[in-house]
Amino acid sequence: MLELWAGARLIDPPAAAFSQALLDWYDCHGRRDLPWQREPTPYRVWVSEIMLQQTQVAVVVPYFERFMARFPTLAELAAAPLDAVLALWSGLGYYARARHLHQAAVLIRERHGGAVPTAIASLEALPGIGRSTAGAVLSLALGQRHPILDGNVKRVLARSFGIAGWPGQAAVQAQLWRLAQRLTPALRVGAYNQALMDLGATLCTRSRPACERCPVAPRCVARRQGRQAQLPTSKPSKRLPEHTTLMILAHDPQGAVLLERRSLTGIWGGLWSLPETDPERAPADWCRERTGAAPLGLEIHPPRRHTFSHFVLVMRIAQVWTPGAPVTIVDTYREAWWHPGALAALGLPAPVRTILADLVLPDPDRP
Ligand code: ADE
Repeated sequence: MLELWAGARLIDPPAAAFSQALLDWYDCHGRRDLPWQREPTPYRVWVSEIMLQQTQVAVVVPYFERFMARFPTLAELAAAPLDAVLALWSGLGYYARARHLHQAAVLIRERHGGAVPTAIASLEALPGIGRSTAGAVLSLALGQRHPILDGNVKRVLARSFGIAGWPGQAAVQAQLWRLAQRLTPALRVGAYNQALMDLGATLCTRSRPACERCPVAPRCVARRQGRQAQLPTSKPSKRLPEHTTLMILAHDPQGAVLLERRSLTGIWGGLWSLPETDPERAPADWCRERTGAAPLGLEIHPPRRHTFSHFVLVMRIAQVWTPGAPVTIVDTYREAWWHPGALAALGLPAPVRTILADLVLPDPDRP
């Protein structure tokens, strides 16, 4: 392949043609008016990139606006309690992202004087920031030349250049990074990276890609070979294991609901959730053990399923109305009775929020 040196930079005609086609397309069709693009500081772009991991732009926009209204600067995020961050994240899922974001803000205050570091190695050293996110932040906010390689970009590159093999495999991933690096232009890097992500999200979709509108279709290997459905190669399939739990939706005589805060490690870390117990156990026994008396009322609801990336959680749900004696609370950080009107402001896992919305009647006597 023809490669020419221009000054200190390598000119690579096929790479330049690819990036130029993407940039021309971006100038006509790219998204350029998203909230984090209006004032693209490293802090705002970082928050947006964390929210955009595994979540679509349209879902992220209102969460981002609320987050910035509450934490307009890194100093305010670092000073906030984790609970306040989790409450604003409630419904976005993948809560480790919020915990890492908060942890990283504290570290930036300690290690970098409160300014998001602009050296890629320092940024990558922070929790929740991998190579692709660090590259996205520094290219989109500051125009630094770094490649990105998120799920959408892997699909665009695997198809355009006919790279087979599951991208989760180390050798395939390394090949894709080398390619991403080679394709990244010297100028307009932020626009180019945004164009790649937008192309993957809007035209080069997993199923039924819109090749007729794609700016790089004329040079796309997958299209030429009719292999769009085979590339990128999917992960060798494995059925997800199921975990069953019994969730107790307990009401006290005033209608308040008992919630427990989950430990910081594991799923839904730090969020409030329903108490859980052994699914083989009778819910009435749980009530007897916690209140010293049988429940006044008991209703078993149909189980609900929630799919995580690596397992399916089967939630059996028992609603119990406890008699006068309330459950004894030892530690109000871990466990508390909440009135229905207070639930909206809590950091709750999305499926638990749905259960509560479906099964807890609003309290007419309270706001
Ligand atoms: N996914 C991750 N980062 C993104 C971005 N900046 N724009 C659109 N989708 C994205």
